[in-house]
Amino acid sequence: MKSLIFIVIVRTLVLASCDEQNPYLEALRDKPWKSVHRYVEVRPGAFLFYWFYYADGTTNGAEQKPLIIWIQGGPGNTATGIGNFCEIGPLTMDMKPRNHTWIRGRNVLLVDHPVGTGFSYALNKSLYVKSDRDAARDLLRAIKAFLKIHKEFRKTPTYIIGQSYGGKLSARLGFYLHLAIKNKHLKMNLKGIGIGSGWIDTKESSIQQPRYLYDMGLIDIKTYNKAMDIAKNISYLISIRQHAKAAEYDNLMFQTFINDTSTDVNLENINKFSNYWALNDLSLKVNLYVKPTLAVNQSINWNYISYSAYYGLKNDFVLPGTKFLETLLNRTKLRIVVFNGNLDAVTPLSAATNWVHNLKWYGAKKFMESTRKPIRGRRNGFYKSYDNFSFWAVFGSGHWVPEDNPTAMEQILEYLTSA
Ligand SMILES: *[C@@H]1O[C@H](CO)[C@@H](O)[C@H](O)[C@H]1NC(C)=O
Ligand SMILES: *[C@@H]1O[C@H](CO)[C@@H](O)[C@H](O)[C@H]1NC(C)=O
Ligand SMILES: *[C@@H]1O[C@H](CO)[C@@H](O)[C@H](O)[C@H]1NC(C)=O
Ligand SMILES: *[C@@H]1O[C@H](CO)[C@@H](O)[C@H](O)[C@H]1NC(C)=O
Ligand SMILES: *[C@@H]1O[C@H](CO)[C@@H](O)[C@H](O)[C@H]1NC(C)=O
Ligand SMILES: *[C@@H]1O[C@H](CO)[C@@H](O)[C@H](O)[C@H]1NC(C)=O
Ligand SMILES: *[C@@H]1O[C@H](CO)[C@@H](O)[C@H](O)[C@H]1NC(C)=O
Repeated sequence: MKSLIFIVIVRTLVLASCDEQNPYLEALRDKPWKSVHRYVEVRPGAFLFYWFYYADGTTNGAEQKPLIIWIQGGPGNTATGIGNFCEIGPLTMDMKPRNHTWIRGRNVLLVDHPVGTGFSYALNKSLYVKSDRDAARDLLRAIKAFLKIHKEFRKTPTYIIGQSYGGKLSARLGFYLHLAIKNKHLKMNLKGIGIGSGWIDTKESSIQQPRYLYDMGLIDIKTYNKAMDIAKNISYLISIRQHAKAAEYDNLMFQTFINDTSTDVNLENINKFSNYWALNDLSLKVNLYVKPTLAVNQSINWNYISYSAYYGLKNDFVLPGTKFLETLLNRTKLRIVVFNGNLDAVTPLSAATNWVHNLKWYGAKKFMESTRKPIRGRRNGFYKSYDNFSFWAVFGSGHWVPEDNPTAMEQILEYLTSA
């Protein structure tokens, strides 16, 4: 009994001191960056969580500024964690102000997806999505709900920007949104799509992964040969649409890489240390400091990644998404930007360069012939474009382009939102 009282007192003290020195709230004290969040029941019992930041931290005239809907990858990486704290939100993982936050001048909508990721949840695990189609449809429902609640943003120029697996989903989501708008099921001013570090031509990216790691000296020739055999199997299995089997080989290939590289090699940015510990630390901070400030179920144990959400999509993991992109290029007036960093071993730049030039669309030949131009600043890379399609090779950047090269990213955003 005595010890129980003791525990209660200690717990109260700990909580009280957390309240006083919550580094998250501390960091937001001078500039609170106005935001709202809520759940959308996308299917009975399945809830997606969104977090919406008003441009420049104020509702005043926000609808006059662009709206960016950020689609995180994984699948199962959290937009409220990785997007928010590691890439584009107002604070960094260290709870320090991020100078290049996208919410300067732009509204940003973060959605934890698929169901089961971050603060999103389902009453029954059987409600987790099992296909890209279902993942994109849930996102469509969340966006519809957002624009129903925030009608003032229906005319706001809006852009979908997805990273990695989110890049693949963005092409599909863009197509679903386009149809919904065309069929008058949705009032929205969709103007463009951004695909960053896109896991979309999965065949091409799989083949280039071992090549890139070998060229950079990160794997030995024995590992390269073994991984290349696996990559060829992945490529073949994708071509005969055996996606589940191909995903198993993809897993095997990553195990093969990790066995040879040290665990401290960061495949997302070969020049940086592994971000594994920092991300685990972020999970602790979000549970301790951020969660109590949000109207969410406090017993949710927030993690930066949801493995259940990831495994839910395993059968579609390597399903390509290029057809949706080609359809958007052929049939819509959307501005489409593709960007990729040169330090990224997950979606190597050479793979992106290959697949953007292999896309079948009316402008393919003109795009191939167009001359690339430098991205502004020194050694920030190159871009080329034809009509509303452009490709940006970003130097000094890994998988998280917004964080790794904010100068290049800013030009990409300006270009995209000028449409
Ligand atoms: C943010 O910008 C200011 C002024 O330009 C600079 O002094 C500071 O180091 C920057 N902070 C970060 C985290 O880059
Ligand atoms: C979850 O859904 C499955 C399939 O609909 C059902 O069989 C199961 O009973 C449900 N579990 C719970 C705890 O509701
Ligand atoms: C590739 O697939 C073939 C046929 O299924 C199999 O025999 C071979 O072992 C696979 N290669 C590797 C490296 O796993
Ligand atoms: C990785 O290394 C472990 C331990 O040495 C071994 O058991 C496993 O088979 C290896 N996996 C691959 C894919 O090489
Ligand atoms: C809150 O989450 C916990 C654990 O995830 C769950 O058991 C509980 O039913 C949830 N409560 C509500 C009110 O949704
Ligand atoms: C490119 O985008 C602009 C602005 O949205 C649009 O007016 C134009 O028709 C588009 N061009 C093509 C060829 O789709
Ligand atoms: C797009 O147009 C090109 C030719 O201009 C055609 O080859 C391709 O099949 C089209 N793709 C889609 C998905 O509409």
